[in-house]
Amino acid sequence: MSDAAKLKSIVVLVSGNGSNLQAIIDACEQGKIPAKITAVISNKAQAYGLQRAKTAGIPAVVVDHTAYLTREAYDQQLLAQISKFAPDLIVLAGFMRILSHEFVENFQGQMLNIHPSLLPKYKGLHTHQRAIDAGDQEHGASVHFVTADLDDGPVVLQSKVPIFENQDAEELAERVIVQERQMYPLVVKWFCQDRLIMLNNKAFLDGIELEEQGYAAN
Ligand code: GAR
Repeated sequence: MSDAAKLKSIVVLVSGNGSNLQAIIDACEQGKIPAKITAVISNKAQAYGLQRAKTAGIPAVVVDHTAYLTREAYDQQLLAQISKFAPDLIVLAGFMRILSHEFVENFQGQMLNIHPSLLPKYKGLHTHQRAIDAGDQEHGASVHFVTADLDDGPVVLQSKVPIFENQDAEELAERVIVQERQMYPLVVKWFCQDRLIMLNNKAFLDGIELEEQGYAAN
């Protein structure tokens, strides 16, 4: 089998800047991830991530959520668009929409997300400010498999940063996202190497069940 035949197919969903997308594009181009990104899909036409896709020669697709009356109708269209590319893996990279249970069930064990908190802390929005307000000493990001409940699937990897005194949420977010761009390509690589799977709502790397806070949790 040629190297090209072994490449996994990835569809990436974005809503904004797409700097995590860029890190994964770069890692694929450099041969660090045995995969090809076959499409980037956004719910927002203005998302800079779409521009990044075009620059890299990747099909960029808009499925605008404002054109659909219900979440279910939107998710059906999203499903139809994704299915055209028959991906092995769907990567949520700053995709700021809640996905319906029906949608998620189509891709059990095939969808990863990155969330800017040390899950299970701070699911949802404004995670950096919430960590500061709580007086936490550390914050970070988590890559996890997507399951039906928001930001709730098994964690694969976390990265931590200290919270310094008088640091505002914007500064903290900048330090966290630097870590995100390091860790997300690594997890995507594990998946594409067939080393990472989800089974019965648990993540396994090289056949070993990962702890609640992911690989190398301690
Ligand atoms: C990242 O910080 C990511 O963790 C977050 O959005 C940002 C996207 O940045 N995702 C979420 O909050 C999802 N709940 P990017 O567009 O530059 O990759």
